[in-house]
Amino acid sequence: MDSPLTHAQIIEKINAFLEKYQSDLSYCHGVDHVRRVTKLAVKIGTIEKADCQIIEVAALLHDVGLVPLGWSKHALGRDENDFQEFLGLYALPSADHGEVGALIAERFLERLGYPSAQKQHVKQIISEHNKGMEQTTLESRIVNDADKLELLGATWIARAFQRTSAFDIHLGIESVPERLLNSKEKLTDAFFHTEKAKTMAAERNKFLVSFNKQFQRELRLEI
Ligand SMILES: [Fe+2]
Ligand SMILES: [Fe+2]
Repeated sequence: MDSPLTHAQIIEKINAFLEKYQSDLSYCHGVDHVRRVTKLAVKIGTIEKADCQIIEVAALLHDVGLVPLGWSKHALGRDENDFQEFLGLYALPSADHGEVGALIAERFLERLGYPSAQKQHVKQIISEHNKGMEQTTLESRIVNDADKLELLGATWIARAFQRTSAFDIHLGIESVPERLLNSKEKLTDAFFHTEKAKTMAAERNKFLVSFNKQFQRELRLEI
């Protein structure tokens, strides 16, 4: 059965949902992260001739499970009634946000009359994006690539500083652990699935290494 809503209308509804519940999510996983991941995933999806509509829906919702894990206190306090139906999913603070997010996405998309087959695919992509799970479809691999590229390059540097100050705004720039700014050994070619992501990862890793060297030099006053 087709959804009574067009794809554009579904995206509009998801954006409104994210704006309401994820916009003030700190810890560098706010709606800005989600939107960057989505744009990049759609871009890679176009190159790979994947289903970009599925990618767009799944990427926008991929971190929605972080909200119930209590990282957005304001969202919970602000409009509890609206969020009530998701509260049952909050019970496990140690839960994998991919799993929790998949359940939230399912309920949310059901409300919109989103077709069942696509809904299952979106759920699968969200639950596979975290915890080192294997990505079983092209669309899932693409969303994963786009998400993991955020752990590299200038974007990651900005997120690392944001992440550190999210814990304590009084921390200085020196308190960003060096390991956060180092290149990520795990995130090499073998980790990414698409050629575009591999090329981007190499570029971003190179920048990360060079930034970190200079930053450490400046902190040690090697002038
Ligand atoms: Fe995530
Ligand atoms: Fe993410």
